[in-house]
Amino acid sequence: MPTVVLTGIGLLATQSAEYGDLRDAALVIEGARIAWVGPVGSAPAADEQVDLGGRCVLPGFVDSHAHLVFAGDRAAEFSARMTGAPYTAGGIRTTVMATRAAGDELLTTRVAALTSEMQAAGITTYEIKSGYGLTVRDEARSLQVAGQFTSETTFLGAHVVAPEYAHAPAEYVDLVCGDMLTACAPYARWIDVFCEEGAFDADAGRAILLAGARAGLGARVHANQLRPGPGVQLACEMGAASADHCTHLSTADIDALAGADTVATLLPGAEFSTRSDYPDARRLLDAGVTVALATDCNPGSSYTTSMAFCIALAVREMGMSPTEAVHAATVGGAMALRRNDVGSVTPGARADLIALDAPSPIHLAYRPGVPLVSGVWKDGRGLRALSTVDYLR
Ligand code: NIG
Ligand code: FE
Repeated sequence: MPTVVLTGIGLLATQSAEYGDLRDAALVIEGARIAWVGPVGSAPAADEQVDLGGRCVLPGFVDSHAHLVFAGDRAAEFSARMTGAPYTAGGIRTTVMATRAAGDELLTTRVAALTSEMQAAGITTYEIKSGYGLTVRDEARSLQVAGQFTSETTFLGAHVVAPEYAHAPAEYVDLVCGDMLTACAPYARWIDVFCEEGAFDADAGRAILLAGARAGLGARVHANQLRPGPGVQLACEMGAASADHCTHLSTADIDALAGADTVATLLPGAEFSTRSDYPDARRLLDAGVTVALATDCNPGSSYTTSMAFCIALAVREMGMSPTEAVHAATVGGAMALRRNDVGSVTPGARADLIALDAPSPIHLAYRPGVPLVSGVWKDGRGLRALSTVDYLR
């Protein structure tokens, strides 16, 4: 297999406890994997050499929560919110109508556009949920579209009750657990439920996650986003890989997360875009909970593909240090997807890497809004050419 040695790495922030932060480092890529990391002076020879000019290198970001299969636009809803209108789960139905009306080709083109934005900004692994179809056919085709872009596909038929079932929500739960799940399970790795007033309560959520488990799907939960509720407890009880949002938590919720194998995935783009209070990441970290950061990219509550923006918000608004936030956006995301091949730069891991036009990852929060990601590698292939500026020498 061809090998490439990356030299001139001013700081290699591996995100691994074993390798830590290495100064004046190098790494060797062999095919799609990392074969070696260490000081530049002892780097082995390789078929090709790329000098990174003193840049900082870290693992590609792992975005464990994104709703990318949709059509339509909700800019007017955002605009109204910024002058006082509240955010409600009901806005989801606006996107449902537009998504149902869109052909597969349009949906695919839009996912391609969003995933290329993500990759250009350093996200090398992304989860994609369905949830804007809410019929058997539209949920299944949403997942088929998603599957063209990622293996981390999530069935979210339980996003809200489909409008046709507004007066018979129990029948909609039966549909999600029955025919919809049967049609969707072949295209999904995960099942998710929006456990919130106005969406699904704990009993419906439990039934849906249990049905998903019987179909071989791992559990995830949209939990405690808009107000306190049973979502986090349900996620922990069901052994979900992740409880997402975690904005309104009781002490019992934090204790449950600390005692479970469930990651708390925080989505500060949603609080930004709904003008809401941010979750308290400090309280979670101090309690020993594993925290992930993700974009929640969706047209209603968080229309961003920038993990750097989420890192900056987490540092400024949620009590995380820059180092903790970068860890949550890499290793945290990997743990929320139960993956150990991504999220850190260690021998054997996938060669998913980013190079920053900056001396350290702290700059991701210190220089908000600045596009610092200048090089991106996915499975060992360079996706984005480095800028020609020899930035730090
Ligand atoms: O994660 N909470 C539910 N789902 C999305 C919002 C979707 C929408 O408003 O369209 C979220 O914030
Ligand atoms: Fe979401």
